[in-house]
Amino acid sequence: MTKERQFLWGGAVSAAQCEGNYLADGRQPSNFDYLPLDDRRLKAVYKNQAASILESTGDEIYPGRNGNDFYHHYQADIALLKELGVNSFRFSISWSRIFPTGEEAEPNEAGIQFYEKLLTELEKHQIEPIVTLSHFEIPIQLVKKYNGWENRRVVDLFGHYAETVMRRFKGRIKYWIPFNEMNMVLHIPFIGGGILFEEGKDNLSIQYQAGHHQLVANALAIKAGKQIDPENQFGAMLAAGKTYAYTCDPKDVFAALQQEKENLLFSDVQVFGDYPKFFAHFAAEKGLKLVIQPEDRAILKDNTVDFVSFSYYSSACTAAEENGIDRVATNGYTTLRNPYLPKGKSVWQDDPLGLRITLNQLQDRYHKPLFIVENGIGTQDVFTEGQVHDDYRIHYLHGHVKNMLLAVEEDGIDLMGYLMWGIIDLPSVSEGKISKRYGVIYVDQDDENNGSHQRYKKDSFAFYQKVISSNGAVV
Ligand code: BG6
Repeated sequence: MTKERQFLWGGAVSAAQCEGNYLADGRQPSNFDYLPLDDRRLKAVYKNQAASILESTGDEIYPGRNGNDFYHHYQADIALLKELGVNSFRFSISWSRIFPTGEEAEPNEAGIQFYEKLLTELEKHQIEPIVTLSHFEIPIQLVKKYNGWENRRVVDLFGHYAETVMRRFKGRIKYWIPFNEMNMVLHIPFIGGGILFEEGKDNLSIQYQAGHHQLVANALAIKAGKQIDPENQFGAMLAAGKTYAYTCDPKDVFAALQQEKENLLFSDVQVFGDYPKFFAHFAAEKGLKLVIQPEDRAILKDNTVDFVSFSYYSSACTAAEENGIDRVATNGYTTLRNPYLPKGKSVWQDDPLGLRITLNQLQDRYHKPLFIVENGIGTQDVFTEGQVHDDYRIHYLHGHVKNMLLAVEEDGIDLMGYLMWGIIDLPSVSEGKISKRYGVIYVDQDDENNGSHQRYKKDSFAFYQKVISSNGAVV
């Protein structure tokens, strides 16, 4: 880690999952505020993404509406992060805090002010902001009126939002990630793209159309952002994780290759400025009906990303024929259980070497600086007398940081930084519960939002602190 560029050690959160106070100071709800706590209803959201998501029984709990109350705790939280030793912090801006319905001409000043105060706090502690513009969030009015990113109009509305914040925060934010995990629109379309499925409609085409619109919006944000301030740097962001072949049978290897191509489709476009060659055949085979405007090709070509950021939680595994092989959950979808990975504490399989493999894969493909902007383990923690003894999180962190360092030092990976996901406990996307905890900072809050919301340092806090202060030497 002796590169000229300062390595960014830090943590990451999203507005939708941490801010809470979803109607405060003029904000209006976003899609994420409709993700229910109730298991049965949550499963239904992920299974059919139907309009019934927007109906409420009245007594329901929606975790995104509460977050972890970062909206009121940000100052103390940033002070804790400073104590942890981070030099960077990734957060997202809530679109509906700035443009509550998504269609206003002028921004909501109270929303702007919140992020101004947050940036001031970060500047006070010399913590570099890494800012996502759309982290699983779109104003709910745009879902109802346009079916989210299905509609081209949303590209313009997002453009207005992106330009507004890039102008207002000019010189204060250098690293921008316009979209979180763009490939998630294919796995969790309501969350990734504000899309509601309707029976009888060509929902698969709609998902790819939404992805295309996000790609165009991403490119236009880069164009505007570079004009506003040439110092601005833009990142693609994908949910990554190498897909292994279940065996060395060439059929399995080919199946894995195909899956990777699909998973890397959007980042390919963001880096190379064009759809990869295989996509024409793929789209025809799936019967995808995509509207690509004549000007889109040039927009994509001329406005590619500066770096490739990604989340890594686990690897995936696939076979040409599954023949009853066990499946296991991973980030956003299910995959074959990898028999070589021991059972860890999380339901997602731990694969620290997989991070090194993924870093190599992405560098070989993209030849761009890489940035790990999410990594961590989501588990139940036991909180007693102000303490959490999370040795499993220390173990996870140790393994992943070690493999990351080996990738940098031995494989020559050009890596910008490492950010731990959910550094302060926050509600999970897949489970909707804060009891699936990722933080090194514990939040005294249960799934029903009971608790003091006070923050406590877990054992992993001290460990990560040592990792950072030793620049990784401790692993
Ligand atoms: C990533 C998202 O997909 O994974 C985060 O960017 C999310 O928003 C994280 O929280 C962990 O997933 P989950 O489902 O455990 O919250």
